[in-house]
Amino acid sequence: MRQIESMKRIIITVDGWSSCGKSTMARQLAKQLNYIFIDSGAMYRAITLYFLRNNTDIKDLTSVIAALKNIQLSFQINSSNGNNEIWLNGENVEQFIRGMEVAEKVSEVAAIKQVREFAVKQQQMIGEKKGIVMDGRDIGTAVFPNAELKIFMTADNEVRVLRRFKELSDKNPSIHIEEIRSNLAQRDHMDSTREVSPLRKAEDAVVLDNSHLTPDEQLQLALGWAREKIQD
Ligand code: DC
Repeated sequence: MRQIESMKRIIITVDGWSSCGKSTMARQLAKQLNYIFIDSGAMYRAITLYFLRNNTDIKDLTSVIAALKNIQLSFQINSSNGNNEIWLNGENVEQFIRGMEVAEKVSEVAAIKQVREFAVKQQQMIGEKKGIVMDGRDIGTAVFPNAELKIFMTADNEVRVLRRFKELSDKNPSIHIEEIRSNLAQRDHMDSTREVSPLRKAEDAVVLDNSHLTPDEQLQLALGWAREKIQD
C-alpha cells in the first residue's frame, strides 16, 4: 500500500461546540496524516486580544474596520512543542488568547461580519494547497463548503464544562466552575444564533460525539474516515 502521505491530499473540516475537544482531535489527526493543522478559533481570539489591548470599540464599525487594517495574523510551528501557533503582528500570542478575558469577548467579536470576512479570506488562502485539517464553527459550512471530509464534533454539556474547568484551573486555580459553565452556555448560544455563518452541522458532515470516547478512540474513528476519503 502506498504511504498515506504520498496519496491524494484533502481538506478536513472539524466544527462543533466550544470545548468538545476539536483542536486536540484535529491536531492529532493532522499529525497522523502529515497535514497542516489550523485552529481558526485562535484567529478570532487573536483579533479579540488586539481589540482589547487597543480599546477598540466593537460597537463602532468604523473603528473595527480601521483596527483590522492593523492586524497581521500568521501561524508558525513552535519547534519546542511542534504546535502550529498563532502570531499577531510579529508576536506569538498563544499564551494570551486562552484566558477568560478573551473568552468573554470573542463570540461577540466573531459575530461581526467584517471580522469574519477578514478571517475567512485568510483561512481559504491557507487551505489552497489542501493537506489541511481546520477546526472552528463554520469551516464545513462557509470556509470550505466543498471539503472532502467534514466532521461535526459534540459532547454532553457537563462533560465539556468539566474538561474546560480542568484545562483552565491548571493555569488559574482560583477559577470557578460556574464561571466556565455560564461562559460556555453564552458562547454556544451566541455562536449558533448569530446572523453571519452561525454554528451548524453541514448536511454532509459526519457526527463525532466524544462524550464517552478516549482521545485515542476518537482519533481512530476520524482517521478511518479520512483514510476512506483519501483512498477514494
Ligand atoms: O474554538 P474556540 O473556542 O477557540 O473559538 C473561539 C471563538 O471564536 C468561539 O466562541 C467562536 C468563534 N469562532 C468562530 O466563530 N468561527 C470559527 N471558525 C472559529 C471560532
